[in-house]
Amino acid sequence: MASLELRQVAVEYTMKRTRQPLLALRNISLSVAHGQFVALVGPSGCGKSTLLNVVAGLQPASHGEVWLDGTPVVKPGRNRALVFQSPSLLPWRTVLRNVTYGLELQGAPPREAAQRARRYIDLVALNGFEESYPHELSGGMQQRANLARALATDPELLLLDEPLAALDPQMREVMQAELQHIWLQTAKTALFVTHLISEAVFLGDTVVVLSARPGTVRAVVPIDLPRPRTGQLRRSPRFRQLEDTIADLLQTELPTRLSSI
Ligand SMILES: Nc1ncnc2c1ncn2[C@@H]1O[C@H](COP(=O)(O)OP(=O)(O)OP(=O)(O)O)[C@@H](O)[C@H]1O
Ligand SMILES: [Mg+2]
Repeated sequence: MASLELRQVAVEYTMKRTRQPLLALRNISLSVAHGQFVALVGPSGCGKSTLLNVVAGLQPASHGEVWLDGTPVVKPGRNRALVFQSPSLLPWRTVLRNVTYGLELQGAPPREAAQRARRYIDLVALNGFEESYPHELSGGMQQRANLARALATDPELLLLDEPLAALDPQMREVMQAELQHIWLQTAKTALFVTHLISEAVFLGDTVVVLSARPGTVRAVVPIDLPRPRTGQLRRSPRFRQLEDTIADLLQTELPTRLSSI
């Protein structure tokens, strides 16, 4: 049984000023098997964050259905964790207490929550910063704290909206490998949005390419590369071939003005 199923999902916004409708997503059907890592790519504004919000239960679909493990998604739930595009740490809490926050909400005893939080803080290489406040961290460090917070609650489905975008290129590759490592250990189902094709190929079991807005599934590209994937694999002909395939699919979604350059 598919763990996550989207059936003909569409999302329409109403633009505040003009009251005009804006179709962000149309006819999205997608099946994600339990434990699968799906990377989502698509042009800016095609509705990737919207899609994640709908799956998280933070906003309703205008049309269609989202099912998770046989239950329709209508509101947020503990079985899902969303890492937002911009870090969303609580500014009045330290790193440690941001990571324990979700665990406290789940009713974990404070000592156990702190122990668990420290494990994930180590995992994202933030040890030494447990008592720092978000404003004392760099953007990339805030993103890592954010990731630790989501992982610590042990959700069944991880929704990751460009979680590594704020990192420098070296740290980003390190974190991609870390994320793969965590995912291989925990076997979570994951929907991962990225603008970086190499990141999608490195991490994904499949890469879903969305069209320009209104976003719809343009292609599903299976990534038949062995795991664990290594830095060396990035330079292999097959890796590069997959990158090219996805780049070509995305290229056709660019505005003609840009793609003709
Ligand atoms: N609350 C909102 N009200 C009205 N329109 C919205 C709202 N949120 C998003 N949109 C519109 O929906 C479309 C999709 O937005 P969304 O943020 O999902 O795109 P995205 O694919 O995540 O883009 P990016 O890659 O730049 O993060 C955009 O055209 C955006 O202007
Ligand atoms: Mg987005």
